[in-house]
Amino acid sequence: MTFIGDNIETAAALLKNNKVIAIPTETVYGLAGNALNPFVVREIYEIKNRPLSNPLIIHLADTLQLHKYVKNIPSVAEKLAAHFWPGPLTLLLPKNDTIPDIVTAGLPNVAVRIPSHPVAKQLLRKLPFPLAAPSANPFGYISPTSAADVSKMLFGKIIYILDGGACDKGIESTIIGFDGDTPIIYRVGAISPEAIKKIAGKVEINNKHTAKPLSPGMLPSHYSPHTPLFLTSNIDALLNTMLLHNGTAILSFKNPSRLIPEINQEVLSPSGNLDEAARNLYKALHRLDSLKLERIIAERVPHVGIGIAINDRLERASNAINSKI
Ligand code: TXA
Ligand code: MG
Repeated sequence: MTFIGDNIETAAALLKNNKVIAIPTETVYGLAGNALNPFVVREIYEIKNRPLSNPLIIHLADTLQLHKYVKNIPSVAEKLAAHFWPGPLTLLLPKNDTIPDIVTAGLPNVAVRIPSHPVAKQLLRKLPFPLAAPSANPFGYISPTSAADVSKMLFGKIIYILDGGACDKGIESTIIGFDGDTPIIYRVGAISPEAIKKIAGKVEINNKHTAKPLSPGMLPSHYSPHTPLFLTSNIDALLNTMLLHNGTAILSFKNPSRLIPEINQEVLSPSGNLDEAARNLYKALHRLDSLKLERIIAERVPHVGIGIAINDRLERASNAINSKI
């Protein structure tokens, strides 16, 4: 049985009792448990059906906690933390022995973030340990941005979903590691590369899609619906090349297509606002996937700001069937 509620005390009590629950953050919902207990962490991997080689992010209440879990913090990391925390930034920092190896999949760095969601913050302040929390979806599937979407995927597998409403950002945190004083983006996310560069002075993007990447969130195929997804810059031009339009769902940026029934479409932001588009992305994908049609055709969004992360997730969703149009 899975309960959905907004009781932070209940959530804290369950977590202290070594239970795994879903929690809201400003990016996406997380599947959370005591990061210092290797048995709890193992259960997170199991519920998510995630390979043990794909490490987890730990979530802290505030920067004062940081020194308990990491050995040292490069000065450029401090600068980024001071500017973007609490918020959708994850830093890869050298872990100390308090963090069990299972959290980092044996890697020397631990991924850390301080979320800004008011419910997550209140919850973390009640706990004497950090929360390990990957996104609350089965491995490889679309992340959830509402308690309802968590419930559809994990009902019966966890005891409690802490409902904090719809996630404000709607897309995962930006993951940054360091090469000396150069920040390297391992996963583009809610904070744009431009914004990072503005604070750090420079930034590089790790574009290597290897079979064993440093950050498996960079795997080419990830964040995927079950329905095959095709990505295009011009939906109607693509539809016009197809003989039949039934069986097609559309995910567009600003304008719906006149060639497809409205019920089979999602428009990310009628006013063309990229923040709104990010907020709506996963919810829209969840709904279109639930239609169980033959294909989803998705439109690329402008490649600036958070649009870079939106296009990245759409790209990975389409890579799942290796079909670029
Ligand atoms: O916004 C977010 O980051 C959400 C919320 C819940 O905080 N969490 C999230 O977690 O997206 P997850 O597990 O779905 O994605 C975390 C990514 C994975 O691709 C993982 O491989 C990478 O972070 N990662 C975690 N620890 C790492 C480490 N020590 N070194 C390199 N990559 C790491
Ligand atoms: Mg994830």
